[in-house]
Amino acid sequence: MGVISKQLRKNIKTLSLQSRLAGSDHAVLVGDARSAISAIESGTVQSVITSPPYWGLRSYGAPNEIGAEPTLDEYLDTLSGVFQAIREVMADDGTMWLIIGDGYTSGNRTYRDTDKRHTHRGMTSRPRTPEGLKRKDLIGLAWRVAFRLQADGWYLRSESIWHKLNPIPESVKDRPHQSHEHIFLLSKSEKYSFDWDVLRANDTDRFRPSRSVWSSAVNTGVKGHAAPFPVELIRPCVLASTKEGALVLDPFAGSGSVGVACKELNRRFVGIELIEENVTLAQTRLAQTVMPRPSVQSS
Ligand SMILES: C[S@@+](CC[C@H](N)C(=O)[O-])C[C@H]1O[C@@H](n2cnc3c(N)ncnc32)[C@H](O)[C@@H]1O
Repeated sequence: MGVISKQLRKNIKTLSLQSRLAGSDHAVLVGDARSAISAIESGTVQSVITSPPYWGLRSYGAPNEIGAEPTLDEYLDTLSGVFQAIREVMADDGTMWLIIGDGYTSGNRTYRDTDKRHTHRGMTSRPRTPEGLKRKDLIGLAWRVAFRLQADGWYLRSESIWHKLNPIPESVKDRPHQSHEHIFLLSKSEKYSFDWDVLRANDTDRFRPSRSVWSSAVNTGVKGHAAPFPVELIRPCVLASTKEGALVLDPFAGSGSVGVACKELNRRFVGIELIEENVTLAQTRLAQTVMPRPSVQSS
């Protein structure tokens, strides 16, 4: 596909095999985002659409996974480093869509209740309450990440709310239950490629991506991953920020939902994912996706 350096092809033997499995325009690399991004050629990525692991929430089962940092500052430093490397491989008029939820402090309670939906995936312990926060405080994780990226030089252009139509039930009764996540739109430069009209053209009575509240159900149809995106949520991001044939990156590819949307919409895709079984799942989903999707309006 011309975006993966020859050196990395040599270093990661599985890469070319997996690329062939899904078709060479839709590759998923097995690896740590911190190092694997260097395999992508500078200036080639038009849009990044991703959801990083949230701090202290869920274990995906690997020792070097992001999200398991002992402190919030270390987590923010890690993400800042990953996204600075991403800026290097982006086109100057490129954009990044960052989908991220929030969480609460542990109050230094080190144990964690079992994740009821994914009993083997919950972190077994919780990080200590960050300096300056109290027991039960909402961390503001999403905005802390957004402000850090803004300080790193990204343009923070918008916040949309993913309103979850079928949120995971919570047991607490002293606050409203969480039923949303944040979708930040960031750009590398002040001026960037973006097509609002295509968002408008894809509005329906239920789902209006041209405005800042996007109502969509949590994806319960993918077995084998704890947090797959609904593909419906990703299509507007792809359509507004890329043209057909452009390259999209997801450095935390998980079950490959961004790749599925890209393949449907005739965009190229490169994903990076740490856990090999997730890569296999992503490749299987990509292989089952038919391109292009004729009913969606593109610019
Ligand atoms: C929130 S999930 C992404 C889910 C994805 N959007 C989907 O639709 O399936 C975050 C993913 O990041 C992966 N991950 C964790 N640490 C990583 C690292 N250091 N490098 C690359 N991927 C990592 C996890 O295995 C997990 O699949």
